[in-house]
Amino acid sequence: MRKNIHFSNILFTFAEINHKKMRIQIINGPNLNLLGKREPGIYGQQSFEDYLQQLRAQYPDVQIDYYQSNVEGELINKMQEVGFDYDGIVLNAGAYTHTSIALQDCIRSLKCPVIEVHISNVHQREEFRHKSMISCACKGVICGFGMNSYRLAVEALKA
Ligand code: DQA
Repeated sequence: MRKNIHFSNILFTFAEINHKKMRIQIINGPNLNLLGKREPGIYGQQSFEDYLQQLRAQYPDVQIDYYQSNVEGELINKMQEVGFDYDGIVLNAGAYTHTSIALQDCIRSLKCPVIEVHISNVHQREEFRHKSMISCACKGVICGFGMNSYRLAVEALKA
């Protein structure tokens, strides 16, 4: 029996397999949904949604996806979901940075690199913020550059 080949379908599948655009997942942890309102003296006045628009405009060649959760297990679920297919994860784990072995284990399990970021310079702040439970599992750490920390992490993944 003769089968019809749909050329457009083949092209579509080929494009999907080749993922022309680099794919980066930004993940923000607890209380980072309040950026712009939360302690503006430390974290600035801009909401993350605003900043994300700017960031995406700066990298039209990169697919930048965004996820935020206040729940530790949901951060892990998202990392497991993307961490075997995406080109990298930019993770600001918020206060879970300083406590979560579960996040560390998750990062170790993934295929893609994870960059740890912080808006503030955690080393200039309280002692308990000097310790990160996740740095040892991450490719690198960027902190203290305000929202720019996220852009520097994208640069690091592109390099
Ligand atoms: C933070 C620093 C953490 O210590 C804090 O708990 C946050 C934000 C930062 O981006 O500077 O929630 O990760």
